[in-house]
Amino acid sequence: MTHVTIVEMSPRDGLQNEKRTVPTADKIRLVDMASACGFERIEAASFVSPRWVPQMADAAEVLAGIDRRPGTRYAALTPNAKGLEAAIEARADEVAIFGSASEAFSKANINCTIAESLERFGPVVERARQVGLPVRGYISCVVACPYSGPVEPASVADLAARLLALGCYEVSLGDTIGAGTPDTVGAMLDAVLPLVPAHLLAGHYHDTNGRALDNIEASLARGLRVFDASLGGLGGCPYAPGAKGNVDTIAVCDRLDRLGYRAGLDPARLTEAAAFARSLRPEA
Ligand code: HMG
Ligand code: MG
Repeated sequence: MTHVTIVEMSPRDGLQNEKRTVPTADKIRLVDMASACGFERIEAASFVSPRWVPQMADAAEVLAGIDRRPGTRYAALTPNAKGLEAAIEARADEVAIFGSASEAFSKANINCTIAESLERFGPVVERARQVGLPVRGYISCVVACPYSGPVEPASVADLAARLLALGCYEVSLGDTIGAGTPDTVGAMLDAVLPLVPAHLLAGHYHDTNGRALDNIEASLARGLRVFDASLGGLGGCPYAPGAKGNVDTIAVCDRLDRLGYRAGLDPARLTEAAAFARSLRPEA
């Protein structure tokens, strides 16, 4: 059976939008429970400004407290040089820069234009390369922007190619507000794929409108084999009002099974970890 990689998002995308303060010990437990499921990659934290996203202010403590399972890479978001240095210090195994295909979202989320973000990312990727850290690139708003509406597939393709040229090993395509359908996600991928091959792409689909699994299916049909998902369906971006969580990890595993793909995760451990994730967000 063909292997599909699920990158677990709950400790980062899942908890960054949480209204209450989640104790650091619970974040560590969530990462450890996710590790026990067998994920190859877990996005564990975010080295962003604590003034912008106070929920992630304890990123260093989280990375210091987890049990590192051999075979799992623990990733962190690093929007700039300051974030990258903190992630190196905290021994992240992988880092991620995050841009947007929409100018309005770029401004709202990282306080700069798309062009300025690329200038900022250059030295981050260069320094990461020097210390041997793989860099993932995210693109938000690959289908639509919460502030400016539909996004042109060509803008996504252009940014994906630029992130790759900067040195990202993979570009994760974020349907930040879950506006996509198999048609619109398919059209976006059809624009991206001539510039960036499927094995360098990942799908990061929020499930606001309940279409994320169908969007994954449309992406599988086009050759993508890496998808971001979140235990308990936790997630959302503080700068994308109204957006719901990432697609639920267990639902993705079930759909993959049905389609004849394998994610290789432990079902009993997934159930336990998802229950714990949901308990951290009682209002979800
Ligand atoms: P800024 O205010 O323009 O930054 O924010 P600045 O460089 O002018 O610095 C201002 C202050 O922030 C300074 O402190 C810096 O030291 C500090 P002061 O001197 O005033 O005391 N600072 C930092 N502190 C800690 N860590 C850092 C850092 N950088 C600056 N890394 C900035 C620019 C990018 C920092 C800010 O806009 C930010 O942190 N944004 C992050 C927003 C965010 O985390 N959003 C959610 C993640 S993205 C997402 O969820 C989408 C995704 O899931 C895909 C999808 O679904 O679409 C990935
Ligand atoms: Mg997201």
